Amino acid sequence: MLIEHRSGRYADIACDLLGFCVFEDGGAGSSAFKALNRLTRGAAGALLSSGEFKPELHRSSLIHNPRGLKARRLLLIGAGKKTDYSLARLRELAGTAIRRARAAKSKCVAFVLPVDEKPVQCARVCAEGALYGNYESDLYKTRDREGRDVERFLVVVGKGASGERIEKSLRQGAIIGNAITFTRTLANEPSNILTPSQLAERATAAGGEVGLSVEVLEREEMQKLGMNMLLAVSRGSDEPPKLIILRIKHQEQAPRKGAPLYALVGKGVTFDSGGISIKPSEKMEDMKADMAGGAAVLGAMIALAQLRPKHRVIGLIPAVENLPSGKAARPGDVVKSYLGKTVEIISTDAEGRLILADALAYARTLGATNLVDVATLTGAVVIALGNINAGILGTDQATIDLIRKNAKITGEKLWQLPLDDEYRKAISSEIADIKNVGNRLSGAITAAKFLQEFVEDTPWVHLDIAGMDLDHDGRPFAAKGATGFGARTLIHLFSGV
Ligand code: BES
Ligand code: MN
Ligand code: ZN
Repeated sequence: MLIEHRSGRYADIACDLLGFCVFEDGGAGSSAFKALNRLTRGAAGALLSSGEFKPELHRSSLIHNPRGLKARRLLLIGAGKKTDYSLARLRELAGTAIRRARAAKSKCVAFVLPVDEKPVQCARVCAEGALYGNYESDLYKTRDREGRDVERFLVVVGKGASGERIEKSLRQGAIIGNAITFTRTLANEPSNILTPSQLAERATAAGGEVGLSVEVLEREEMQKLGMNMLLAVSRGSDEPPKLIILRIKHQEQAPRKGAPLYALVGKGVTFDSGGISIKPSEKMEDMKADMAGGAAVLGAMIALAQLRPKHRVIGLIPAVENLPSGKAARPGDVVKSYLGKTVEIISTDAEGRLILADALAYARTLGATNLVDVATLTGAVVIALGNINAGILGTDQATIDLIRKNAKITGEKLWQLPLDDEYRKAISSEIADIKNVGNRLSGAITAAKFLQEFVEDTPWVHLDIAGMDLDHDGRPFAAKGATGFGARTLIHLFSGV
């Protein structure tokens, strides 16, 4: 999709569809709407006063061949309450415009910024939202593929805005939007296609295009290093495990002394059957997206390589498939971790923490001073927070606060859960240093407590995104399927855009 800006009179923009937002409270009385109503000689106002269109959030109404506009269609979009308006909401509104345009087979879409403030930031999130809305998860349909991608997206800004700064911002928005599309594409891939090897190959190919150096540790190297938790999870599968390590090339020169090095670690279980502790079959197909955290890390690193982040940052993705077989790890097995601690595997379905713990410990060997992991880790966090908020926990409260503040801009909601020492008791083992599951209580927290044993005193943040990775209902601004959750927050945290 080609993304550009236009300034000044939207009436003169020749396009297939012009999107215009109307706020629920006072939107119809605003000077912007009155001007549109005058231009269209009452057509816009009539749609509202007839009651046919209500400016509730994401509702929309189409007028064909509107008078006074060069656009072939005018789309009025409900923007909700003005008091709730934010950059996160603007991103969604741009997405809604795009998805309505797709349905109307429109190829060229113009979108009028609903407020005059901060046009540079607004343009960026519109570009992000437009790319988000333009994505469809129909890759494997041989018939009835929509083929309705919007090809041109024009953000209409007020006259005063600097064209150069807007264009730069749109380019940043496109980098972020395309990276998130990449993340979603990976998470939507079925597990027979996206094996750990294939994930490593895609990381290598996509990373190479944007200035990431991609190193892949193979099984033999991991054996030498003693990453026996990671290896135990992959033992039941014929697909070999991969540890994918991403570095930004222009950051590879020797760092300033004392400069922090952030490591982003993403869970890359390409399919989670549960292993010998096999899952019930209902909804097991969703476990193809158990690498969504890894995909978010990869997408974030791809964007950051192009955006020149303020801190040094590396990415690690432990990629495995969790299957039962005659070679699989059993409940009761004891393995020695990369860090040296011994672990009793009570459930082979608590595999995410096993692979992440080895990767987090290895990230510290690589010199990481701060750790952030993203993982579809526990069903318990889905019970606690549903598919509205992801869980955030950790020992680095400053970064947690920073990330939570970002939600107003990224729209990715996070809710902090506690990590008191008292929760540790549930995962003490009779025969090893620690076991990989606790009792039935507070499962999202005991999972994080397990990880904490392996980050030791390195400042660390953990995002449990289980339940956020797939959206089975779809949204007015988003196709059903993978959401890319987490990537945008990571990008925002480090890029400073
Ligand atoms: N990948 C799952 C967690 C999950 C559940 C992700 C639902 C997305 C939606 C994870 O590996 C898992 O199986 N966790 C177990 C842990 C339990 C055995 C302690 C769980 O939450 O049931
Ligand atoms: Mn599992
Ligand atoms: Zn899992």
